Amino acid sequence: MIPKKSGTRYEIFPFFRSFFGKQLPVVSSYLCPMLVGILHGPNLQLLGVREPEIYGSKTLLDLGKEIKQFFPQHDFLFFQSNHEGELIDFLHDHRTNVQAWVINPGGLAHSSVALADALRMMNGPAIEVHLSNVFQRESFRHNLITASSCIGCISGLGFAGYHFAIQMLEKKLHE
Ligand code: DQA
Repeated sequence: MIPKKSGTRYEIFPFFRSFFGKQLPVVSSYLCPMLVGILHGPNLQLLGVREPEIYGSKTLLDLGKEIKQFFPQHDFLFFQSNHEGELIDFLHDHRTNVQAWVINPGGLAHSSVALADALRMMNGPAIEVHLSNVFQRESFRHNLITASSCIGCISGLGFAGYHFAIQMLEKKLHE
């Protein structure tokens, strides 16, 4: 079924909405709640200030608010660190309880074998997201080491990339 666009969200239950009336909240996708880990790597705490011509003017806090607003049916664990080891520890600590991951490893995406190895050990699937289109940028950004441990990678769609990733993870967990 092709989802109907409703406002800024994709509605997949048009029948229920037309039946129960417009007071039914628009849901972005499946109603079944999941616990999603949203992991951010180095320098991404400075979103909004850092190179706004590339990454935009919205902050990491704005992103968190937006995600919670779009997906009220899910629970989220947000974590950002500038340290590779801390990101790996966080993944280990939540290896079994987190059902799905969205990870923007920042620059570590291009260098961290250790983070890629940790991601491979997670129980749930992960999708890598980059705000900027790394393929339009310097050639050292074209090599995505951590993405090799993910089911997919989205690059260049800004905050929308996170929305698409979460929708895809919902779908994956229902397969
Ligand atoms: C980034 C892209 C990386 O190359 C860069 O090092 C970042 C941000 C992005 O979201 O576009 O820190 O991951």
